[in-house]
Amino acid sequence: MDLKENKFVAAGLLFAATIVFVKLVSALLSNRSNNRLPPTIKALPVIGGLLRFMKGPIVMIREEYKKLGSVFTVNVLNRRITFFVGPEVSAHFFKAPESDLSQQEVYQFNVPTFGPGVVFDVDYAVRQEQFRFFTEALRVTKLKSYVDQMVVEAEDYFSKWGESGTVDLKYELEHLIILTASRCLLGREVRDKLFDDVSALFHDLDNGMRPISVIFPYLPIPCHRRRDRARARIAEIFHTIINSRKVSGRAEDDMLQCFIDSKYKNGRPTTEGEITGLLIAALFAGQHTSSITSTWTGAYLLRYKQFLSDAVEEQKNLMRKHGDKVDHDILSEMDVLFRCIKEALRLHPPLIMLLRQSHSDFTVKTREGIEYDIPKGHIVATSPAFANRLPHIFKDPDTYDPDRYAVGREEDKAAGAFSYISFGGGRHGCLGEPFAYLQIKAIWSHLLRNFEFELVSPFPENDWNAMVVGVKGEVMVKYKRRQLLVGE
Ligand code: HEM
Repeated sequence: MDLKENKFVAAGLLFAATIVFVKLVSALLSNRSNNRLPPTIKALPVIGGLLRFMKGPIVMIREEYKKLGSVFTVNVLNRRITFFVGPEVSAHFFKAPESDLSQQEVYQFNVPTFGPGVVFDVDYAVRQEQFRFFTEALRVTKLKSYVDQMVVEAEDYFSKWGESGTVDLKYELEHLIILTASRCLLGREVRDKLFDDVSALFHDLDNGMRPISVIFPYLPIPCHRRRDRARARIAEIFHTIINSRKVSGRAEDDMLQCFIDSKYKNGRPTTEGEITGLLIAALFAGQHTSSITSTWTGAYLLRYKQFLSDAVEEQKNLMRKHGDKVDHDILSEMDVLFRCIKEALRLHPPLIMLLRQSHSDFTVKTREGIEYDIPKGHIVATSPAFANRLPHIFKDPDTYDPDRYAVGREEDKAAGAFSYISFGGGRHGCLGEPFAYLQIKAIWSHLLRNFEFELVSPFPENDWNAMVVGVKGEVMVKYKRRQLLVGE
């Protein structure tokens, strides 16, 4: 071999050695990162994960949390869903920027219901502006006028009850909340003249959102067709209302008016289609969630007489101070009632699972100090229904104990901001939380002041089959009118 040949052999050997080295390092690295992937739920190939999931996500989380800890993955068909259980691992879920963890893909199934040009049908920059419209429509000055309407609606509704009787509390509260939401959100025209038509149309929209719609939102099935027809008719109704307000120059004190008056940063006003879509989104976000929470609050108060009498005592104190008047500021003084609602909502959050799509790799550390790498492409999930009952955060987690939020205990803050997540938190925390509490307090302060109750049906259970998990069956109560004597 001459010198030239030697050089070629040496270069060739060096090249081969480099490739082997690179392969070894990358194998080592990939081994390391594979080792740090979260454990995967054992299930039959292809559909096993789906079957476990369909059996009930909370049952699955409970079983797997015991075996695998606070971070684990389930393969559902061709998707990987990674669960984060507990405040220690869910901070990134709540705080990550949209470029890392987004809602748009996983909540796409809402688009045919909300309609085009709003919320999950628009890019994040526009959605942020639309959520600014929500924030403005729900600020304290607005809430004050909504509360006045909530109080009138409650007085009006319960004035139609007799001296005594038996009612399905769930049905009654659902009905009252639709009326109140119509008044405060959809506006006077709908509440006063079009209530029956519009609530029938919303009923069709509601029924068009089924578990199957999450995977195939446009499947041509009868309930989707009814949904689309109802959506189109709602658009026509709001076209007429918005036009008539604009032509007459008449302004009202409702969310509809706020959306009509809203403007994007570039000065563009909202279109009729956007206004309608945002109102539908508000109703979907707030109506069932609030009525379910009102019913659970009642069921627990009637079951645990001690908390009922604490809540009644608080009403007496406020009546001594303010007379019969109820407004925003007086509702804000109802701490006992607030804690009773909050505790019902901890045990029964209607939104049992929150989802995001990951767009970049990230790492989470469990409270035991184990680190997991979550690859981009995973769907990530957290569950208020499960996380709200973790025993290392909430003492005797299955017990109804509103005092756990009292000064000195404050278990909802035990492990930081994401200990209690019925309203989500962080970047996408619920914008309607104050509205919801005010509405439920307005209803229950009226009921506590004017009626005595007895629960006559068995204590209710969760209706896990509903998209927004509600109360199963009827909640029958006997009522008797009473006048709360403040001197008592
Ligand atoms: C008890 C009643 C309610 C409960 C339990 C509730 C729960 C939630 C939860 C868990 C989220 C977070 C979703 C996620 O992170 O993916 C959320 C977001 C939201 N909620 Fe509520 N909600 C309630 C009432 C309301 C009401 C009355 C409104 C409006 C009138 C409303 C408007 C919104 C909006 C606009 C968002 C989206 C915020 C964002 O993505 O930035 N909610 N809600």
